[in-house]
Amino acid sequence: MGLSRPFWRAAQWRVAEAAGGSTGRGVTEKPPPLRQIGLDPRGGPLSDTRWNREGESAVENIEAVEALLSGQDYVAGRALATVVFLALRLNRPLFLEGEPGTGKTEIARAIATGLGRRLIRLQCYEGLDVAQALAEWNFAAQMIAIRSAEASGQTGALRQDLFTEEFLIERPLLQALRPQPGGPPVLLIDEIDRTDEPFEAFLLEALSDFQVTIPELGTIKAAEPPIVILTSNRTREVHEALKRRCLYHWVDYPAFERELEILQARAPEAAEALSREVVAFVQRLRQEDLFKKPGVAETIDWAKCLLALDVIALSPQVIADTLGAILKYQDDIARLQGSEATRLLNEARAGLGAV
Ligand SMILES: Nc1ncnc2c1ncn2[C@@H]1O[C@H](COP(=O)(O)OP(=O)(O)OP(=O)(O)O)[C@@H](O)[C@H]1O
Ligand SMILES: [Mg+2]
Repeated sequence: MGLSRPFWRAAQWRVAEAAGGSTGRGVTEKPPPLRQIGLDPRGGPLSDTRWNREGESAVENIEAVEALLSGQDYVAGRALATVVFLALRLNRPLFLEGEPGTGKTEIARAIATGLGRRLIRLQCYEGLDVAQALAEWNFAAQMIAIRSAEASGQTGALRQDLFTEEFLIERPLLQALRPQPGGPPVLLIDEIDRTDEPFEAFLLEALSDFQVTIPELGTIKAAEPPIVILTSNRTREVHEALKRRCLYHWVDYPAFERELEILQARAPEAAEALSREVVAFVQRLRQEDLFKKPGVAETIDWAKCLLALDVIALSPQVIADTLGAILKYQDDIARLQGSEATRLLNEARAGLGAV
């Protein structure tokens, strides 16, 4: 038929895989090209590269970063604004690790929108592999091309055409290397701690020189590197070598004043007195030995629930009725039954008097 053998082997494997069986020759073969998608190992350290960016004038200093973030209703402390500024200025990936619901993912959206860049998100999960993160061949489209070439008797010309960009499905990492309207995109590699070590090793190379090699196509290098933000909830330690290539920042629960600022930015319709009580109560709750402490996201959700119920001040009854907005485990909810909610509310109010 004139088609190259490697392609047919891949096709047979895929067809057999879809049918849940073998290649028909009694052996299930591995697909040749897809697993070989990899990275050019020749990359130098990221910090050797300097790029000029259109958006750079927008972030000339830390104050400009603070303004950019607050323009997106994102409240950042000085330390976070500084590390964002440095990541933008030095073109270094930013590694944000911290408690759940503290704004790690949201900051990528705020930076992308603030700079007018596209946000490309790679959501990590257990078993994520390079093909799913980078690119894979569009097998269905290749099969259609083969069938129509066979029908028209033009299979000879098809041989070189099957492994071209036309048949490539670009996944987030490859998309992030492509030029985008408005400038280099923000690449969010979210919850990296959910992946495994081989994937981390792959990322290490990708983040070092922003180029990848697809055997059938060659090396693809970003004309300008994307702005990279990695997040982790620290369900496991991410490898030191990957962290070393990044600027690091631990995102903790905010202190009272900052959490109030965040709540006022995200739920401005809540009256100040109620917002203060909500934040004080959540802050007090976090001091308890809970299975899962409420994050900022829960504070905002709770305030919105209270608003929907026309609540103007907290009471033990209101807390008991709406606890599901801030605590998501039955053991934690059970701890706050009875007089416990009253005690915490009184302590939170006493703390408010001292603020
Ligand atoms: N500093 C902040 N400024 C403004 N909003 C914030 C801030 N921190 C958190 N939020 C709010 O909390 C919500 C949850 O934040 P986000 O999803 O980014 O948390 P996360 O740290 O990524 O959590 P997880 O680890 O569970 O993924 C956001 O949608 C946003 O509304
Ligand atoms: Mg997140």
